[in-house]
Amino acid sequence: MCGIFAYLNYLVAKDRRTITNTLICGLARLEYRGYDSAGLAIDGDSDDVLIFKQVGKVAAVRKLVSEATVDFEKEFVSHCGMAHTRWATHGEPSPTNSHPHRSDPSGEFTVVHNGIITNYKELKTVLEKKGYMFESETDTEAVAKLAKYLYDSQKSNEKLSFTALVKGVIKELEGAFALIFKSVHFPNEVVATRRGSPLLVGVKTEKKLKVDFVDVEFGTDSAFAPTEEKVDGNLLSPTEHPKLRRSQSRAFLSEDGLPQPIEYFLASDPSAIVEHTKRVLYLEDDDIAHISEGELHIHRLRRDDGISATRSIQTLEIELAEIMKGSFDHFMQKEIFEQPESVVNTMRGRVNFESHKVTLGGLKAYLATIRRCRRIVFCACGTSYHSCVATRAIFEELTEIPVSVELASDFLDRKTPIFRDDVCVFVSQSGETADTILALRYCLERGALCLGITNTVGSTISRETHCGVHINAGPEIGVASTKAYTSQFIALVMMAIQLSEDRSSMTQRRNSIIDELKKLPEYIQNVLSIDKELQQLAKDVLYKEKSLLIMGRGFQNATCLEGALKIKEVSYMHSEGILAGELKHGPLALIDENMPVILIMTKDSLYPKVQSALQQVTARKGQPIIICNDGDEGISSQYKKIRVPQTVDCLQGLITIIPLQILSYHLAVLHGVDVDFPRNLAKSVTNK
Ligand code: F6R
Repeated sequence: MCGIFAYLNYLVAKDRRTITNTLICGLARLEYRGYDSAGLAIDGDSDDVLIFKQVGKVAAVRKLVSEATVDFEKEFVSHCGMAHTRWATHGEPSPTNSHPHRSDPSGEFTVVHNGIITNYKELKTVLEKKGYMFESETDTEAVAKLAKYLYDSQKSNEKLSFTALVKGVIKELEGAFALIFKSVHFPNEVVATRRGSPLLVGVKTEKKLKVDFVDVEFGTDSAFAPTEEKVDGNLLSPTEHPKLRRSQSRAFLSEDGLPQPIEYFLASDPSAIVEHTKRVLYLEDDDIAHISEGELHIHRLRRDDGISATRSIQTLEIELAEIMKGSFDHFMQKEIFEQPESVVNTMRGRVNFESHKVTLGGLKAYLATIRRCRRIVFCACGTSYHSCVATRAIFEELTEIPVSVELASDFLDRKTPIFRDDVCVFVSQSGETADTILALRYCLERGALCLGITNTVGSTISRETHCGVHINAGPEIGVASTKAYTSQFIALVMMAIQLSEDRSSMTQRRNSIIDELKKLPEYIQNVLSIDKELQQLAKDVLYKEKSLLIMGRGFQNATCLEGALKIKEVSYMHSEGILAGELKHGPLALIDENMPVILIMTKDSLYPKVQSALQQVTARKGQPIIICNDGDEGISSQYKKIRVPQTVDCLQGLITIIPLQILSYHLAVLHGVDVDFPRNLAKSVTNK
């Protein structure tokens, strides 16, 4: 996965330094999407393009630019620049494999790309036969060269427009992509398109915009564009159901019809745009956005594909401060400490603590169908999958509907049987995880009702599901997911409560959960206050160890899995979550006086069984650190303890995960890991 960004100014004088700074700043915001190399392209002094590419994080390309002997004072009244931060999929991280990629040494066409072109080898073979020489090992270079090939193949008196050319290019592409094209043949223009990878356009102008019709540019294309003034609702507001409502529009012009100063930003996600403008338009698959002369027109690849030919401008709700680190050293740390607030945001306006009612507006119209279904299938990857494991038992208990929990990455491999009367719930922080999207499409094809639980309004999963819940945790930048986990957990519990509201036998259980939901911020705050103790524990006991086992059972099984995932991904220390009931079926062989163990032993109905696991470990000379409840004096003083507040059994995992998140963070810092950018990982895994 990668991050792409472009900036266009029209009739707004900007010097080259400001333009490159804008590009680099945009990249820095997208760095979490990939950080093994970065690059950018800007206009040269004559009809050429300047490309800067470097291995490493965005800082490396920033340095390269700062050392370049280029006239940075040169002003452009209209200019188009593009940039890319990479997470390698084809070809190792190297300056040559970094984006932007060019069609030829003079850069007639320059391209940045997020996604994977699956038929690039075939394209490359054809282009090589036609004499094109490839310099990189990437799939993207074939796209740039294909654009040049199509351009050169035209008769000089019948040159295609930039849009028509890109349309010709993407007709040949298979796979997933968000692409931005720049060309010396079309100065100050940009064409951007997507299929399967996210892309949005930000618009910044002082003037009022109006909607008008424009002529269809060619053949069967419809030319249409967003409207600012006609938007009927704030589409990015953190409401329940993030489906887009659309207004009719055709073109995006200044109200007086005169050319207007305007700036456009194209990016893989809103975090790179929000500091410039909050007015954004999300592109749909096969949209081709063309920006030229200050106007934005959007074309469709095919006219008859059933996708509405209208888009609307939405207003972003996030603030720049929300995506900045503030006083924290790392985003992961900030996001762990935000949880007393993020859990409240997930419940805000949905849980009525007086009447003990939960209302998820996004599900309202579908409650009866869900209650009638024959089973519920949870489907997700990684941490999001763990939130499903964590809540499955309470979901089944409250709704009395069987729930299966599926890894999206395995879903298609084993051709999971899905039926029309299934309800499938897709959980994803980013809403863009390729495996989860593929599983979603598979279930849609089979006629199941599909629900999305995401943190990203406007994301593919939120758009393609029938209905859903937005977790409202705020932007999560750290690659290791923390606050999204607790918010997903709560969203699923809220869903179970709402679905069970017609079961009076469950009233008491529901009420006790709702009472405890209210206290969550206080409980989480309590655990955060032992941060220094946990830091010391990481330093004194765990940091030098090679491996760590985390054990528990029942509601704590998910905490073990998620805690172990956190530790391995950010500290690179081997860690394994083990269901304590499985100990004697194998893992007990690992236990001796040297094997570090954390045992979760909170006060629920399984406490006696976990006591027995403790005995089994101790009998093999294990010395576990025990996560237990405040006030539990029954545990021998021979063990180190991490004490956490006690809550109702099904919510206890929301509290026990916090010390493990904090421990993983401190272990990562002690190991000198770049916490927000652990090696080989990316925030949103948009490739299969
Ligand atoms: C781990 C982590 C990943 C993600 C997984 C799914 O900390 O962040 O395991 O949970 O890649 O991502 P989403 O939730 O965006 O679908």
